[in-house]
Amino acid sequence: MLKPKKLLLIIVILILGSLLLLFFIRERATAPSLTQVNKTAGQNTTPEQSTGFDKTKHSTSDPASIWVVSNKKRPLGADYKPEKIVTPNIRLRLGAGEEQMHVSNVMAPALEQMFSAEQKDGLNHKLSSGFRSYALQKQFYNNYVAQDGQEKADTYSARPGTSEHQTGLAADVIPASDKCHLEICFADLPEGKWVAEHAHEYGFIIRYQQGKEAITTYQFEPWHIRYVGTDLAQELHKSGLTMEEFFNLR
Ligand code: DAL
Ligand code: ZN
Repeated sequence: MLKPKKLLLIIVILILGSLLLLFFIRERATAPSLTQVNKTAGQNTTPEQSTGFDKTKHSTSDPASIWVVSNKKRPLGADYKPEKIVTPNIRLRLGAGEEQMHVSNVMAPALEQMFSAEQKDGLNHKLSSGFRSYALQKQFYNNYVAQDGQEKADTYSARPGTSEHQTGLAADVIPASDKCHLEICFADLPEGKWVAEHAHEYGFIIRYQQGKEAITTYQFEPWHIRYVGTDLAQELHKSGLTMEEFFNLR
């Protein structure tokens, strides 16, 4: 017959042993195995997707894509033309039939919505320049080179075949009064401030930002807006990144 003291000791040891066993079983059940870890690592998820923004949703190299990144190193080529261009129903700087008074049909509704929202806020803008064919870019660029020299012209005028105006997805917007027409002082006018604050709500970004000249390779252009759709516009507005930075295309 065991003495009560010994019996108590055996019971305590049994209880402690069971607890230890239970703890061990639980740990094994919750910790991932090496194969599980490897499987997760091998899954086709990118950090972008895990933060909820799919950077692969649209192409950045197809000229017809709303996310196309067009710059000096990523030319569109001489032959590219958007599938359909239309004259938006907004105030225009030139006659409705002029080439530059057209934009891609993909962005026209957003531009019209933005202009009507500006009007509701008591401001009047007009379209200074939208679509530009390769031929028109060539004419502009050559004139600017003759006027200012190539080095200077390259800071504000795209060489033929590299302007995002060729996609029909870019627009230069100016005050109806013509004040600060394509000048940096546009940024300080109520019309320029409105664009900086609200363009992203309609899917536009200010493509050539102040302080990002080394990345975009162009001077600050507060009047040049580019349609990228509301998802990306919100993302770029929030982060302050250029398209080149966001898509790591430098
Ligand atoms: N001003 C911009 C860079 C263009 O010429 O497209
Ligand atoms: Zn422009």
